[in-house]
Amino acid sequence: MTHASKWTNRLWQCVAAIGAVLVLSGCELPVPNSVQHGYRGTGMVQVYNTRLLAATVDANVPPVAIPQAPGEGPKASQTYKNVQVLGNLSTAQFNRLMVSMSAWVSPNNGGCVYCHNPANFADDEKYTKVVARRMLQMTQYINSEWKPHVAETGVTCYTCHRGQPVPSAIWFTKDHQPQGSNFLGDKAGQNEPAAVVNLSSLPSDPFTPFLLEAKDIRMNGPTPLPSGNRHSTKQTEWTYGLMTHMSTSLGVNCTYCHNSRSFQSWEDAPPQRVTAWHGIRMARDLNVNYMEPLTPVFPDNRKGELGDAPKLNCNTCHQGAYKPLFGAPMAKDFPELTPPPSAKPAQVASK
Ligand code: HEC
Ligand code: HEC
Ligand code: HEC
Ligand code: HEC
Repeated sequence: MTHASKWTNRLWQCVAAIGAVLVLSGCELPVPNSVQHGYRGTGMVQVYNTRLLAATVDANVPPVAIPQAPGEGPKASQTYKNVQVLGNLSTAQFNRLMVSMSAWVSPNNGGCVYCHNPANFADDEKYTKVVARRMLQMTQYINSEWKPHVAETGVTCYTCHRGQPVPSAIWFTKDHQPQGSNFLGDKAGQNEPAAVVNLSSLPSDPFTPFLLEAKDIRMNGPTPLPSGNRHSTKQTEWTYGLMTHMSTSLGVNCTYCHNSRSFQSWEDAPPQRVTAWHGIRMARDLNVNYMEPLTPVFPDNRKGELGDAPKLNCNTCHQGAYKPLFGAPMAKDFPELTPPPSAKPAQVASK
């Protein structure tokens, strides 16, 4: 090789190297920030892209609460005809909550008339009103009975609804193989790129087994060789599907809840993992006891391909933030949505 062509070669190598750097860094701009989240050297680092983080912050601004109304005066149960959950509120408090609910759930869908027959507010003919009554009870139940997860921060309708009648994250049980299995057998919902599993080839419905049914999430055995706790590769993939959903819903990496030295170890894990453990049980409880029983109330166009009711997951509340609305105290301004334990929300049967 001549001296000159050697140099041309070098030059091209340089150009290629610079090109590669540009192409690779172009994948993720600005360059992500990493934040140490555990002991140094344990690899427990959170990686944040500041641009994506800024978008999540913008999408998670809590609404301004209407000033609280006086508790004196006639009760809503005396003023109105068909008040089954909020009867103890004063009429002023009741009206404040109705106005707030319109802003949280249906501001661009007719406001009050999204749930009400304007000719008769006591009427229960719209399914949306029947669902909303159950939602009032569900919200009270979350705030009073699921403090191990939602703490004093709590939730309002806005936490999930964000100004829309249908929250942005809902799910249905998937009918993966409507024609039955084929020569390849049961593909277990894999290779159906879905945002809930970050477009990976993991099962696209990791919710039915864990957030509706109570299948075992753990798959690691206590010993190096297979022993008591044996799970199939398929079950393991369900677990990884759920974990991927949990990470993307909270906008965090696996190490937010795990020490990657041992994913199963609770001793080495950050406390957030315990909160998440309660979150899994809470989501399941709400789906089984509030969402599924509403199946006969929802019209067909709101149901899934198997005729099931819409259900919630971590992202219904979290929407990309490690705490919904980045920890804004939602329950504080609406004490009627956190009844004291002495006034357990009445169980009103759905239609
Ligand atoms: C998201 C659904 C929803 C929206 C929006 C809504 N309401 Fe209601 N409303 C309900 C539910 C549910 C009840 C019954 C509460 C209960 O049983 O404790 C109710 C009950 C009422 C009642 C009592 C009627 C009676 O005689 O029994 C009045 C009055 C009322 N709402 C007014 C309003 C007004 C005014 C607005 C708009 C500012 C509004 N509501 C918006 C769901 C809604
Ligand atoms: C934990 C999350 C969560 C909270 C909190 C919550 N909702 Fe919902 N809501 C849902 C889900 C999930 C659905 C099902 C979506 C659908 O209808 O397709 C739903 C459906 C509804 C619907 C039916 C909308 C439609 O058009 O089908 C109404 C009305 C409603 N909620 C009102 C409320 C009100 C009022 C509150 C507060 C008192 C509330 N929700 C609190 C999750 C929540
Ligand atoms: C928000 C917290 C959180 C995040 C983020 C998270 N996990 Fe988990 N993980 C948990 C909890 C809680 C359990 C235990 C669930 C149970 O047993 O009910 C668990 C269980 C597991 C298990 C089973 C351990 C065993 O005992 O067999 C594995 C494996 C796992 N996670 C992997 C991951 C991976 C991989 C990621 C990232 C893609 C991840 N997790 C992200 C909270 C989290
Ligand atoms: C009903 C709404 C709701 C649902 C559904 C929900 N969360 Fe949460 N979550 C909250 C609220 C509210 C907080 C804030 C509690 C606090 O301030 O300590 C929270 C806090 C957390 C935290 C603690 C974060 C920290 O930095 O301390 C974790 C972890 C978490 N949730 C995981 C999950 C997982 C995993 C799921 C799904 C299996 C889930 N959540 C479902 C409402 C919800």
